[in-house]
Amino acid sequence: EKGGHDYFMLKEIEEQPAGVADTLIGHFSHDRDGGRIVLDEQRLTDQELREIDKVFVVACGSSYHAGLLAKYAIEHWTRLPVEVELASEFRYRDPVLDRSTLVVAISQSGETADTLEAVRHAKEQKARVLAICNTNGAQIPRESDAVLYTRTGPEIGVASTKAFLAQVTANYLLGLALAQARGTKYPDEVAREFAELEAMPKLVARVLETAPQVRAIARELAQVRTVLFLGRHVGYPVALEGALKLKELAYIHAEGFAAGELKHGPIALIEDGLPVIVVMPSPKGRTVLHSKLLSNIREIQARGARTIVIAEEGDETVRPFADHLIEIPAAPTLFQPLLSTIPLQVFAAEVAQTRGYDIDKPRNLAKSVTVE
Ligand code: M6R
Repeated sequence: EKGGHDYFMLKEIEEQPAGVADTLIGHFSHDRDGGRIVLDEQRLTDQELREIDKVFVVACGSSYHAGLLAKYAIEHWTRLPVEVELASEFRYRDPVLDRSTLVVAISQSGETADTLEAVRHAKEQKARVLAICNTNGAQIPRESDAVLYTRTGPEIGVASTKAFLAQVTANYLLGLALAQARGTKYPDEVAREFAELEAMPKLVARVLETAPQVRAIARELAQVRTVLFLGRHVGYPVALEGALKLKELAYIHAEGFAAGELKHGPIALIEDGLPVIVVMPSPKGRTVLHSKLLSNIREIQARGARTIVIAEEGDETVRPFADHLIEIPAAPTLFQPLLSTIPLQVFAAEVAQTRGYDIDKPRNLAKSVTVE
């Protein structure tokens, strides 16, 4: 049942190409104009989607990190303002909600108490609620106006991996569905983005081939006390997710930072031998961010940090500053997290295993957190 692995988590990491592909199935219907994105339980009309003037995304843990990524896609494609909030904080600060607000609740289990209470609060304030969920008929989708299911099968490992990637995929579908309903993208543009998404599972599979290299790095670093993760733009939520994986599985202090914040404090942490994992943006397109991150790596390496860099294949500029270089295929910027997250999952799992921990059942944690 673990597909030849010692742990479900390792099997679930390998199921990610299929999870992304399956989450896309049936969500695009071709027509004369190019085609349309179709959601699952669509109890919200296009007219209602057009009336939306702001979006809140609420979730916890890894699902919250998926939510942070939703913001980049939805704002870019729809020009709607998006706020992403920890579900446990949302209803306690009296957020401004009304019937033109869309609240997106992301939850693998669909039973997380904090997220469920955030949904109930949103509904009381007459907001529209859309759930992104991996569990058919769970409480959160039942109480929502519309649902987009991540179809990656049940996730057994407490640490979310394949569900996270599927949630990120579902975010893109939602962003495109909103763009289509609101007319901020032409049908052929929506069709083009969807085709790019459909190409991602193959690239996800290629990133899995880096696992032996990542595991070797993880074994070398397994006894360290702290690891820092840096990223920018969509690489920033990926850094946060990498740090969370390492905390929950390997019980190592780990922090994710937006690389631009380094000089506002965290650079003081850098000392000889400190491992820093950096998620590089593509060298194409966002060249300003790329060169800024490059100078960040140079700075931390000069201060003795041990740099582990995840960068696009063929990005030779990072090589001199990377003590370890993990190469991932080129992808559209918004979709890069579907690739860059994977080495971080593999890294955390291998560090934890080297330290002798049960990676399916990390200490003190439950798969589904049904109390607030
Ligand atoms: O079932 P949910 O997606 O609502 O769960 C949210 C978090 O509890 C979950 O993502 C948690 O952070 C994972 N253990 C992270 O790996």
